Amino acid sequence: MGRGEATVVSRDLGKGELPLLSPEMVGAFYTSPTDRSAEQKALLEVSDTLVAELREADVLIFGVPIYNFGVPGALKAYFDLVARVGLTFQYTDQGPRGLLKNKRAYVVITSGGTGLGSTADFASGHVRQFLNFLGIAAVEFINASQLLFGAEQVLAKANAQVEALAVATA
Ligand SMILES: Cc1cc2nc3c(=O)[nH]c(=O)nc-3n(C[C@H](O)[C@H](O)[C@H](O)COP(=O)(O)O)c2cc1C
Repeated sequence: MGRGEATVVSRDLGKGELPLLSPEMVGAFYTSPTDRSAEQKALLEVSDTLVAELREADVLIFGVPIYNFGVPGALKAYFDLVARVGLTFQYTDQGPRGLLKNKRAYVVITSGGTGLGSTADFASGHVRQFLNFLGIAAVEFINASQLLFGAEQVLAKANAQVEALAVATA
C-alpha cells in the first residue's frame, strides 16, 4: 500500500479513558465466547473493539513517554485489554504463541533524563516483550529520550531516524 492510501486510526490513551482489568473481565476473557453472559459481553466491549482495531492494522505506531521508569499506566491498561487468549495469543505445548502476524511496530520513546536502553529504562523492554508476545516481532524504537539534555538535538536526531526508516520502508 502506498503511503497516500493508508487509513490512519489514532487513539489518545493519555485521556485515561480505558478501564483497568478487573477479575470479572479476566473471567470473561477465559469464558468461551458461546458461554458468555450478557454482562460478560458488555464487559468485553472495549477490549473487543481494541483487539479488532489491532488485528486490522498493518503498521502500529506508539508514542511512549517514560513515566517513573516504565510505561505510562494508560499504555499498560491498553496492553492488558489487548492480551486476549484465543484472539491475540494462545497457549500451546511449547508455551504461549502470538497470533498477530505480518505487522510492524514503531515505538517512539520520549523521556526527561532516562536514556533509551539504559538500566533505568523499564519501558522499552516491556513494550518489545509485550509486542513479541502477541506475535509482532518487527519492533523498531525511535529514540527521543533524554529531552532534558537538549530537546532540539534529541528531536532532530529522532526525526532523522524517522526519515531514514521512511526511506528504508518506502
Ligand atoms: C508522572 C511523570 C513521570 C515521569 N517519569 C520519568 C522518568 O522516570 N524518567 C524520565 O526520564 N522522564 C520521566 N518523565 C518525563 C517524561 O518522560 C516527559 O515529560 C515526556 O517524555 C514528554 O516530554 P516533554 O515533557 O518534554 O513533552 C516523567 C514525567 C511525568 C509527567
